[in-house]
Amino acid sequence: MGIFNNIPLFPPQASTFAGQVDALYFFLTAVSAFFSVLIAVMIVIFAVRYRRSRQPEAEQIEGSLVLELTWTFIPLGIAMVMFAWGSWVYFQQTRAPRGAMEIYIVGKQWMWKAQHVEGPREINQLHVPAGRDVKLIMTSQDVIHSYFIPAFRTKADVIPGRYTSTWFNATTPGRYHLFCAEYCGTQHSGMIGEVVVMEPSAYEEWLAGGTGEGSLSSSGQKLFQELGCATCHRSDTQGRGPNLVGVFGKQVRLNDGRTVVADESYLRESIMNPGTKIVSGFTPIMPTFEGQVSEESMIALVTYIKSLQSAPQSGTGAMQEGTTPANVTAPPNKNR
Ligand code: CUA
Repeated sequence: MGIFNNIPLFPPQASTFAGQVDALYFFLTAVSAFFSVLIAVMIVIFAVRYRRSRQPEAEQIEGSLVLELTWTFIPLGIAMVMFAWGSWVYFQQTRAPRGAMEIYIVGKQWMWKAQHVEGPREINQLHVPAGRDVKLIMTSQDVIHSYFIPAFRTKADVIPGRYTSTWFNATTPGRYHLFCAEYCGTQHSGMIGEVVVMEPSAYEEWLAGGTGEGSLSSSGQKLFQELGCATCHRSDTQGRGPNLVGVFGKQVRLNDGRTVVADESYLRESIMNPGTKIVSGFTPIMPTFEGQVSEESMIALVTYIKSLQSAPQSGTGAMQEGTTPANVTAPPNKNR
């Protein structure tokens, strides 16, 4: 697929999507070019053939079913090919495969922060291993930004107040441009960075050489204690809030009979606006944490809650159901 490598119009193809997106783009360009040329040539031919000096006699044609069907169904067919092909690429890009490694991205005026689950954070850089599915879970601290890696052909809006995600599988180690692709204020054009694709072993080394501030879920666990969440969200059935062990990814029944999937956005919303979706059987007593929890802390909390369903004995703060682990302590002051 190296046909575009020597044309500077196209960025390098450095992800599994790049070839697919380019093929589709090439098809769209080819169809447009074909019809543009066809129409331009026809204009010239007719202009010459029926020019005034020849005094052409116009022949009245009263309609032709064959002609009508032809110019309806050929464009329809072409448009449907574009639609089906485009949707296929789009759905592939939107749905990360199971088992993809996750990295959190926070956009703000005017920088990109990345938070790796293992602990390291970075600004205006993103280190990823080659050959692995990487899912980005993204949010914004202020306005809408857009995370754009041309070499991967991935671009996704980053929106305040919710999580959006995209994913890629980088194929070639190297350094690639990272842009903000949504006008977001005066320094928008400076909201750039680089994506560093490394060999998996080098990536592991890079992770290990990080800041040593502990994993994301362990800082989330600390916050869970500090903010008093553990007071009500206990891992036994005595809590005033729902037990959070194993909740992530599951269907949750709400007070009003609706069911929602407990994904990242649901967890975030339930921390920011706890009254919006009350779990069936519970009363809306939880205070809002809006303004108290930064997007980065939110990511840590969400990661911690997600970790509560992994292997019970793992060291990252997973709680065992039915027991009262040390991290779920009764606080001295009771109301929260
Ligand atoms: Cu952020 Cu443009």
